[in-house]
Order: sequence, then structure tokens, then C-alpha cells
Amino acid sequence: MMMKGYLREDLKGIKPYQTEKHKCTLKLDANESPYPIPLEIRAQLASELLNGNDYHQYPDPNADRLRDLLAEIHQLNRDNILIGNGSDELLHIITTAFAGWGDKVLCPLPGFSMVSYYARLAGAVPVDYRLNDRFQYDVSEIEKALDTYKPKILHICSPNNPTGSTLPVSDIYYLARRFDGVVVVDEAYYEFCGKSAVSLIHLCPNLVVLRTFSKAIGIAGLRVGYMISSKSLANEIYKAKPPYNVNSFSQRAAELMLAHPEIQRERVKKIIEARDWLYQALDGLRGVDPYPSEANFILFKVKQGDLVYRGLLEKGIVVRHFEGSPILKNHLRITIGRAEDNKYIIQSLADILANLEGW
Ligand SMILES: Cc1ncc(COP(=O)(O)O)c(C=O)c1O
Repeated sequence: MMMKGYLREDLKGIKPYQTEKHKCTLKLDANESPYPIPLEIRAQLASELLNGNDYHQYPDPNADRLRDLLAEIHQLNRDNILIGNGSDELLHIITTAFAGWGDKVLCPLPGFSMVSYYARLAGAVPVDYRLNDRFQYDVSEIEKALDTYKPKILHICSPNNPTGSTLPVSDIYYLARRFDGVVVVDEAYYEFCGKSAVSLIHLCPNLVVLRTFSKAIGIAGLRVGYMISSKSLANEIYKAKPPYNVNSFSQRAAELMLAHPEIQRERVKKIIEARDWLYQALDGLRGVDPYPSEANFILFKVKQGDLVYRGLLEKGIVVRHFEGSPILKNHLRITIGRAEDNKYIIQSLADILANLEGW
């Protein structure tokens, strides 16, 4: 029997999020940390698994212990914080809470694709505001879009994925005060730039800041993210949160990761050094145009991006390409990994470009 299409009519054209799997030596396509979970934390988790919690009970639905640790770090109250199964889940929850059928959701272009995806899942209409020619934020573009579309949600990502550009906190404050709706500031890459809108939650009750344990902290596989907002906004968002959204093991791993800020600081410092080296090296290659980045990745433009992408794959280097995105045609995004791999990356790119020129 032929399966009837039961899917909602408006979702029939949606393309599910998919990642490609490649054999590779350097996986630099998802902005993950190149470093493993420190051995002492793994040992602690293993010992707790053997001697303590056997996971027969549901997790703490509110992740109170983790929220308390985060509250201490941010000098806030646990009521200002919600934990998600990755910040990705929080984007979904926030969109569901504030945007419904036909509502507009304003998203940066280029930007993180999941924000418009979740808007569509909610039945809302994602609308873009453009970054400028060099992929920097332009506040007047955002203001124009706010006035034209009157959205329910304004998304800002700082540093922005995939461009690496940031929006100054003073501009975020200005926009949040001006806009009668929810402003989501995604700070997934905060640690690599150090500029945050978190303190604005005291002044802007309509502001949510997202953070993740997946990038600088390096436990992407365990799926932990969190949001920070005024208590009143957090209470509203809580209504759209699934009850046991973060499992006990991941909650505990996240708590333990917070206990070693010195390890993270050292790792972030190395990644920033590697980023700055790689940026200079990319800038020095003929035919490569990198964009300055305050995150753990660099976006760059090349001629014949598809061929360069495939050339890198052949050398075992997987970067992100943006098939089907006109604005990112011939652009590739590379995650910053270990400094010792940078020379191989640059040499590989130089070889590929030299071959292309010969054609
Ligand atoms: C800007 C941005 N936000 C959110 C996420 C999702 O991160 P996670 O769900 O792992 O916390 C990503 C992942 O790449 C991202 O780039």
C-alpha cells in the first residue's frame, strides 16, 4: 500500500538537518573542540557510574545542581537559567514559546540555519536581515527589518556562525530596548571573544542569552546548553520545555566540566592563538579571502569553492561548505583545531589552489 503523506502541508518542502560523514584525519566542519574530556573528569564519571547512580530514575527535570553552579558563575539566581539538550534545543523551545502560525521570526543572513528551521517547524515565517558585504552586522538593516516585518523574535548570534562577526553589546542593548518582542542572543562561541550580553538581562526583560557546553567546553556529544534571561521570561519559556530534557549523565558531566575552569582557559587560549595564526596564513594565500573571526572557526572565500572543498576532502580535511546557499557560494568554514595541524592545512590548500590555477 502506498503511504499517504501525513506530514503538515507547510513542512513538505523542509529539508531535514543532515551532516555528511567522511573518512577524515581532520574533522573541522562542526566547530567542535579538538580536545578530549580531561582524564580526571572521565575517571570521576566512570567511578560514579560504577559506584553510584545507575540511572534507573529520571533525571532532575530542572537540573538544579547545574543551574546553581552556573548561577554562581554568572552571579545570578537559578531562576534566571534554563538547561537544554544543547543550546539547539533551547532555540527550538524559545521559538515554540513565542512564535506561532504566521508570526515572523527575524534571522541574520548568513546565519545559523537552525533558527529559521525552528521558525518553520512552529508554523512561523522566518525572515532575514542581511549582514553587510563583509558580513558585519548593520544595525540599520536590523531596524529596517524590525519596522517592516514586526517579528515576534529577533535572533542575533554573536560571534555569528558562520561569519565570526560580532554585534557590540551597546547595539544589542539599543535593539532590545527598541523592540517590543523577544531578543535571542546566541553566544555559543562566547569564550573565544569574551564579549557578552548577559549583564543586560537586568535591564532588558525581553532578552535571552544562549550558551553551550559544546564548543569551548568541549562536550558536544553530551548535549548540554543553557539560557540566561530575566526570571519572568524564563518562567514563560519553561512552559515550552519538555520535562526530562537533559539526562542525568550529561548533567553530571557538565557540573564536573565547570569545576576545572583553568583547563578550559588554557585550551581556549591555544585555540585563539591557532585561529590568529591560521587567519594570517589564509590571508597570505593568493586567491583566499578570509573574514576576521572572533569564534573558533574562520569563514573564507575562494574561487571554485566546490573543487577546493573536494580537494581538502581528498587530503583528509573536512571543512563546512554551504551547498544551496547563494550568499555563501564559494565560501568554506574551517574549525580551528590544534595549532600543530595548521601547517598541514595551509600546505594542502596551497597545493590545491596551485593545481586549480594550472587548469
Ligand atoms: C550559533 C550556534 N548556536 C547553537 C548551536 C548548537 O549548539 P549545541 O546544540 O551543541 O549547544 C551551534 C552549533 O553549531 C551554533 O553554531
